[in-house]
Amino acid sequence: ISLKPYNTFQIDKKARFFVEVNSIEEIKEALRAAHDQNIPVFILGGGSNVLLTKDIFALVIKINIKGIEVIKENDAQIWVKVGAGEVWHDFVIHAINKQWAGIENLSLIPGTVGASPMQNIGAYGVEIKEVFDYLKAVHRSSLDTVTIEKEACKFGYRESIFKNLARDQYIITHVVYKLNKKPTFNVSYGAIQSILEAKGLANGAYTLKDVSDAVIQIRQEKLPDPLKLGNAGSFFKNPVLSVSQFEQLKDHYPLVPSYPQENGVKVPAAWLLEKAGWKGKTFGNIGVHKNQPLVLVNYGDGDGAAIKALAEKIQRDVKDRFDIDLHPEVNFI
Ligand code: EPU
Repeated sequence: ISLKPYNTFQIDKKARFFVEVNSIEEIKEALRAAHDQNIPVFILGGGSNVLLTKDIFALVIKINIKGIEVIKENDAQIWVKVGAGEVWHDFVIHAINKQWAGIENLSLIPGTVGASPMQNIGAYGVEIKEVFDYLKAVHRSSLDTVTIEKEACKFGYRESIFKNLARDQYIITHVVYKLNKKPTFNVSYGAIQSILEAKGLANGAYTLKDVSDAVIQIRQEKLPDPLKLGNAGSFFKNPVLSVSQFEQLKDHYPLVPSYPQENGVKVPAAWLLEKAGWKGKTFGNIGVHKNQPLVLVNYGDGDGAAIKALAEKIQRDVKDRFDIDLHPEVNFI
């Protein structure tokens, strides 16, 4: 079948076999069947962080496990167990309606709950690791159901063990988040502040919904809607430079924006790409988005391999101009 409806880049590549699973038992059945027939397995969540460059000669398993369940609470916090197949933004809205705080800044991020720990999704000053408690997963070869605690996930900037050491070893079935009954707002991101101020809501008079609405407005202004224009959000990670490398860059470009980190200085890849002239460039039916150059787009019938080639061309150009290595955030298949 065509995977076009199952990847936000809307790339028209095929899966040899495809199954949607609604429970842990169905996952195990699918894995057993694939194993018995010696067919490789490929796990698909919301398809919002993959670039399909070719057909997949495998059994593609689409995780559809649903459910939002409160499993524990005290005066301050609430533990919520969520099925990996729930749409992330739907869960955010559910949490806001229930007055559960902690993920309002992560409104409108495409993808599913199961994908949220994979790359420690983050936006506007908040990362999932701040509210993550543990997850449930099925081990792909032993078929054991396991619990993986936060420490073991080794979360970093757009990183977790599931992208590195434990890559392709587990299928995440449920995620347990520890949300707060009393919000601790993070409105440090300038554009969120401006929107709240414009609504006369400065001085802390805002609600979870106000913050979520502000985030939605910012994202809708800058980021293309994957339902209308194929894309996978930020294509590259923001590079972290050593202090000396950053000083050199700053000598040439005194206005370069920067965010100090424990291990160096983070520079927005979007700024590098704009400086290098990539913003808004189109090449046939693919290109670099006009409002946020970190996003590569498929204008229709774009080819995954062509997008990969464009990404590599951008990487070489950034290396030549700034001597900086850009690393993709998106997974190439
Ligand atoms: N910038 C430009 N030109 C542009 C856009 C941005 O020069 O056209 C520069 C500006 O200096 C701006 C800075 O880049 O201040 C940062 O831009 P923005 O706030 O849009 O954030 P970003 O660093 O480009 C990251 C995440 C986004 C997340 C936003 C907001 C990564 C790889 N991307 O983008 O995540 O929504 O911050 O927190 O870290 C995603 O992962 O798919 C994603 C969209």
